[in-house]
Formats: sequence, structure tokens, C-alpha cells
Amino acid sequence: MSGQIVGGALAPHPPHLIYAENPPQNEPTAECGWETLRWGYERLRRDLAQHEIDAIVVLSPHWQTYIGWHMLGVPHFASKSVDPIFPNLFRYSYELDVDVELARGICQAGAEAGLVTKMMENPDFRVDYGTIVSCHLVNPTWDIPIVSISSCRSTAFYSVEVMQEQAIALGQATRKAILESGKKVLLLASNSLSHRHFVTESAVPEDMSKEHITHHGQYLWDMRVIEMMKQGRTREIVDIMPEFTTQAITETDAGAFTWMLSAMDFPTAGAEVYGYGTVIGTGNVVAAWLGEAANG
Ligand SMILES: [Fe+2]
Repeated sequence: MSGQIVGGALAPHPPHLIYAENPPQNEPTAECGWETLRWGYERLRRDLAQHEIDAIVVLSPHWQTYIGWHMLGVPHFASKSVDPIFPNLFRYSYELDVDVELARGICQAGAEAGLVTKMMENPDFRVDYGTIVSCHLVNPTWDIPIVSISSCRSTAFYSVEVMQEQAIALGQATRKAILESGKKVLLLASNSLSHRHFVTESAVPEDMSKEHITHHGQYLWDMRVIEMMKQGRTREIVDIMPEFTTQAITETDAGAFTWMLSAMDFPTAGAEVYGYGTVIGTGNVVAAWLGEAANG
């Protein structure tokens, strides 16, 4: 049976969104906050409920591996995740299942494509908060197993261009492994767009009178890229990724967005944009290509 990519979503991971949702897993409590993004995620979840999903594959900028791409390779993880920058907002008890078979398939397909890949098989490994936040916001019940892929940080070691090449190759390998798996799979690129953020926090973190984009130039870049997403100009997005990543200091430096577009074989259909909003000044969009739109 042939597997299928049921969709690909840009699913940013500011811990503030979970803080504002007050799920039982998170210790701190909030009054409200960042509604345009949280309501965007609500609408995405409603649309995803129309699809059968066997596994969610997420690539996270906050699992940083300096030699190659790693994949979670233990069937079950449970621990507490504390955000290193915002421990006041995010102290989250997680429990999740991993589709180890699919992870191995992606690991092997990546290696066959010439990439350095490795399974992460330490049962005491603490799963990164990017993976946890994106997966929670897309599927708060955690009833679907995940595959989490690290970011190999080629942008930092070499250049954005090297990262693009690596992420495109990993996307192709991911697609091949999914099609061979026979499973229906949702892809998540766990990243913000523009990423210059405030260096101080307001007294009440959810005080929305203090929330805005850090810099107008960032906003213009975000709007340009979102417009291209809506028009299905995904190859052009990858073409301008080096400028976008450098000038708007974006979190696309981790390769997640390029990887996802490549795994979907560069959709020409427009993405559905569910919401855009800033979090401590960073630009975040919740958007997805679902069903037919997610395949080439
Ligand atoms: Fe981040």
C-alpha cells in the first residue's frame, strides 16, 4: 500500500501559546493572550479532524545536532520540559509516543541520499520544547504517534545555501520513506518567520497592549512570504530563503520550512492561512497545505 502525505503545516512553537491555553500539563497559568494565533490553531485542528492521520513528522529548530540529522528512536518518552528562556511560562509535563518504524525509514532514506542521519535511542533523552509545543497545538490529545527530526545547523556552520541543499535532500528522503511506509502522515515545520524579538518581558506577559512586531522591515518580509504561500509559489520561497533568513533573522534558518516544502514536492496550490501574529515581537503564521494541495 502506498503511503500519503495528508498535509504540511507551518506550526510555530512560541511557548507563550501553550501558556495562554492553560492545558493541564503546564504549571504556570495565564489569563489570556495571543488569540489570533491560538484561534488560528483552533481552525487548523478543525480542518485536520477531517483527515485520517497515522503519524505526525515534525522538524524542530530547538533540537540542535551539529553532526547530521537525528530522529527520535524510542517508542515512548515522558518527562518535564522547561523553556530555558521562559521558565516562568512553560513547565510542561509531556508524554508522547514515537513511530519508530517511520523514523527508521526516514533515517535510512536520508542516509541513502548521502546525508548524515542517526537514530536517537537514549530513553532518558529530553524532547525539545519546539517539538512539544508544535505537536501540542496541532494535536493536544497526543493520540497520534510522532517522528521528531533535529536541525543539523548547517546555516550556522556553513551558510543558508548549504542548509537549503541539505533540507531539500532530507525532504525528498522523507517523502520517499512516507510513501513506502503505507502510512498517512502530517508534516509540521516548527518555526516562526521573522525572529527578532524583544529583550525584556512586560510585567504581565499576556498584556497584549505591549505586543507588536519588533521592526517594520520584518513585517514586510513576513507579508511577502505569506503572500507567496497563498499563491503556491513555493519554489520561489526556497529561492529567496537565503535573503529572507538573513535579513529578517528568521527561524527558517533551521531548515524546517524548506524540508517541508521539499517533502510535499513544492506545492503549487495556495496554502490556507489560519492566522498571523507576533509573540514577543517575532512574526508567526499558522498555515497549511492539506489534502490534494499538499502534493506537488
Ligand atoms: Fe523557537
